Amino acid sequence: MGFLDKLFKKTTKEEEVMTEKLNIGIILGSTRDGRVSPQVGEWVKSIADKRGDANYEIVDIAEYKLPLLGEGEAPGAAAWNEKLASLDGFVFIVQEYNHSITGALKNALDYAREAWNNKSAGIVSYGSTGGARAAEHLRGIMGELMIADVRTHPTLSLFTDFENFSTFKPQDMHLDNVNLMLDQVNAWGKALKTIR
Ligand SMILES: Cc1cc2nc3c(=O)[nH]c(=O)nc-3n(C[C@H](O)[C@H](O)[C@H](O)COP(=O)(O)O)c2cc1C
Repeated sequence: MGFLDKLFKKTTKEEEVMTEKLNIGIILGSTRDGRVSPQVGEWVKSIADKRGDANYEIVDIAEYKLPLLGEGEAPGAAAWNEKLASLDGFVFIVQEYNHSITGALKNALDYAREAWNNKSAGIVSYGSTGGARAAEHLRGIMGELMIADVRTHPTLSLFTDFENFSTFKPQDMHLDNVNLMLDQVNAWGKALKTIR
């Protein structure tokens, strides 16, 4: 940047990116009737919104009505890709089904490619062992999709963070971890925006 640009406070693309708020999607990984993921997603969003550091929104895979990839018409596929393209980072709300992520989440991941690339992501998971096994599977998938998954990973227990496995009552101890995860998603999200 030249002397005059500095004098008149002209900003570089990198500086603009560093000061703009990111758009972060909180993606609900389950679609079944009676799912608890909306409760968990709303809780994460309520913590995130208090920070004021990014634009956070719930993204519900169920609304896009994606059939299994390659099986017939998928009118929601374009809208799904457009939504992902509008986002700079993700928080995946991950539930454990047979030691992995849901079929619905895997299918939705498969429906896009470039729209995932060079963005950051955090995971909030739940299950009998905090959804840890599903979350680790998701990390492997994210490597292929060039999504940078952050270290901090709040894990919620079906036994101690839910009543009757259905009403979400999170313990206070998770709050710091959610905020730390969001710090990391924002930091890496900003860094990666500069190379897109
Ligand atoms: C098909 C299926 C398989 C499941 N397998 C596991 C499992 O392997 N480990 C686990 O901790 N919980 C397992 N569960 C329990 C889910 O984690 C629990 O029902 C959770 O609420 C599911 O998330 P959802 O309500 O958002 O769909 C399974 C549930 C379903 C429906």
